[in-house]
Amino acid sequence: MDWRDRLTVWFRHAFFYGDNWVSICAGILTTATGFTLLWSWFRELASPHSALPYVGILLFVLLPLLFLVGLFLIPFGMWLKYKRMTKAGEKPAVIPKVDLTTRHIRKVLSVVAVATVLNIALLGVATVRGVEYMDSSKFCGLTCHTPMIMEYRAFVDSPHSRVGCAQCHIGPGADSFMRAKLAGVRQLFGVMFNNYHRPIPSPVESLRPAKETCESCHWPQKFHGNKILVKTHYGDDIANTPAITVLMLKIGGRSGEANTGIHGRHIDTSERITYSAGDERRQVIPRVVYRDDKGQMVEYVSSDTKLTPEQLAKLPQRSMDCVDCHNRPTHAFESPEWAMDRRIQEGLVSREIPFIHKKGVEILKGEYKSQDDAAARIPKALVDFYAANYPEVYKEKKALVDAAAIAVKDAYLRNVSPEMKLTWGTHPNHIGHQDGGCFRCHDGSHTSKDGRTIAADCDTCHTILAQDDPNPKILQDLGTK
Ligand code: HEC
Ligand code: HEC
Ligand code: HEC
Ligand code: HEC
Ligand code: HEC
Repeated sequence: MDWRDRLTVWFRHAFFYGDNWVSICAGILTTATGFTLLWSWFRELASPHSALPYVGILLFVLLPLLFLVGLFLIPFGMWLKYKRMTKAGEKPAVIPKVDLTTRHIRKVLSVVAVATVLNIALLGVATVRGVEYMDSSKFCGLTCHTPMIMEYRAFVDSPHSRVGCAQCHIGPGADSFMRAKLAGVRQLFGVMFNNYHRPIPSPVESLRPAKETCESCHWPQKFHGNKILVKTHYGDDIANTPAITVLMLKIGGRSGEANTGIHGRHIDTSERITYSAGDERRQVIPRVVYRDDKGQMVEYVSSDTKLTPEQLAKLPQRSMDCVDCHNRPTHAFESPEWAMDRRIQEGLVSREIPFIHKKGVEILKGEYKSQDDAAARIPKALVDFYAANYPEVYKEKKALVDAAAIAVKDAYLRNVSPEMKLTWGTHPNHIGHQDGGCFRCHDGSHTSKDGRTIAADCDTCHTILAQDDPNPKILQDLGTK
């Protein structure tokens, strides 16, 4: 028998035993998923910008799974038919020829063809729909990622709420696209088996360099000069007296030939600062290397560190980028004090309620077993307090107290999740010096061998135009009050 005869015999067997409903359906499934997979991989690679990791669930898990199931079922159906015929003694001595003129065979072939076309169309539409859905931040933060509900809530309440999760967390490029898809699949299993970190660890080790994400929208050379920042806090006194701080921040940037100020000193077209952190959360920074304007490298070491120069040299190094200061560009968690300040400022909590700032902070800092527990107890605690201690106020301003009770509850749900072990201060914000921030390096203790120190004077980064003033003159002069 030459190879042609062998192939003919094999084909006849395949066709004869393959003529059963299990194999035919499986064949249709496999061809259709195969085509859909090829087509959607091509589509995704052609436009990776729209990608989100969770599309991976579809492209790397569900469709291939269907494909494999189909592939397995084809021989399985043949085997079933073979077994059945052998058992019933119906196995023919000679396998019939494949004859296209036979009615039965023509019928089977046309059913297969029509079903395949229909299936490709169906799966194709389902895939497009699925991909579009999974591309949304809603899916990312809500549907798939129950653990990420807190990041999602903070994100919705931020200047970047119209920027998709993917634009910061994945960025452009086929390579990061693939990595993100696979990471998405891993995370899916984490969620399915309830096996994930609580709280979700930060910093995110695998975050793309800011050059490829933030800088695709922002151009740091473009924001320079000074920025007036007005911060309003409220006192713990009966009148919740405002205390306004006005700062002129020296944002700097590229001006003429020189890099100046906050942006200019740390960020350049080429690397300016590398540092080594002593802990995973990058809260302690014992060593900083700076390339100064002349191109000279200056090493600053903290006098507080107990590490030897050899140990310091072994620590992993990181190039400073946007995220080392703006680590909370969108998931900014508040402090209890700031949460109350903001809600008073936004009018959600009325300043007319005596001691509301103090009381709100106290309730926010309370212990609750879960978000549901807090949602039930917080409004009641606040209302009960005013009903018991300030009955006249409560009677007169019931609507205000009730509204404040809801706002305080919402502030808690926005920032704390006992389920995720996320509480006040879990994720520090590096933009100022509330939680370390700039003072991780600018603390006056980082000095170089030739006696230079990373500046820590109060007017290095800002000029304080007013501090804790209920009615700052500077705001009147500027015409904003
Ligand atoms: C403007 C850019 C940006 C957007 C948009 C964004 N993130 Fe983030 N995300 C970050 C940065 C920066 C970090 C902190 C990284 C670090 O400190 O290393 C972070 C951290 C996280 C973390 C780790 C836990 C934490 O709180 O630090 C999770 C989870 C997360 N993001 C989920 C999401 C989800 C879900 C979305 C969309 C709803 C989203 N992110 C949108 C920039 C962004
Ligand atoms: C897809 C585009 C896009 C990306 C990517 C992006 N941003 Fe933004 N960012 C914006 C826009 C648009 C605004 C202005 C929002 C507004 O004022 O309503 C903004 C505002 C900001 C602000 C000012 C916020 C404020 O309080 O006024 C900072 C700081 C910032 N972004 C930092 C970052 C950092 C850091 C990253 C990277 C982790 C990043 N952005 C990534 C589009 C982007
Ligand atoms: C050394 C810390 C630091 C680094 C690094 C840094 N920034 Fe900033 N940036 C700041 C501070 C501080 C402010 C002012 C904060 C405020 O407005 O409260 C600011 C303000 C901004 C603003 C708002 C500007 C305005 O006029 O309102 C944007 C946008 C921004 N940064 C983007 C970036 C981007 C993009 C990068 C990376 C290329 C970056 N920053 C790197 C510290 C930094
Ligand atoms: C990883 C360490 C590190 C962090 C964090 C850091 N800086 Fe710096 N910063 C430096 C170094 C190093 C220099 C340059 C010191 C020198 O001039 O030799 C510098 C310089 C500056 C300068 C210029 C000072 C001058 O005399 O010209 C300003 C302004 C500044 N930083 C602001 C900030 C602000 C604001 C933050 C926080 C949002 C911050 N830095 C966070 C390391 C850091
Ligand atoms: C390395 C830079 C840097 C140095 C040095 C520095 N600050 Fe600041 N400071 C900042 C930045 C950035 C912010 C704005 C934070 C923000 O955007 O909320 C800030 C905010 C503040 C605020 C307002 C805080 C609020 O929430 O109301 C006060 C007050 C303040 N600084 C006082 C000081 C004093 C006093 C010193 C000297 C001991 C000092 N700063 C040194 C960078 C610096």
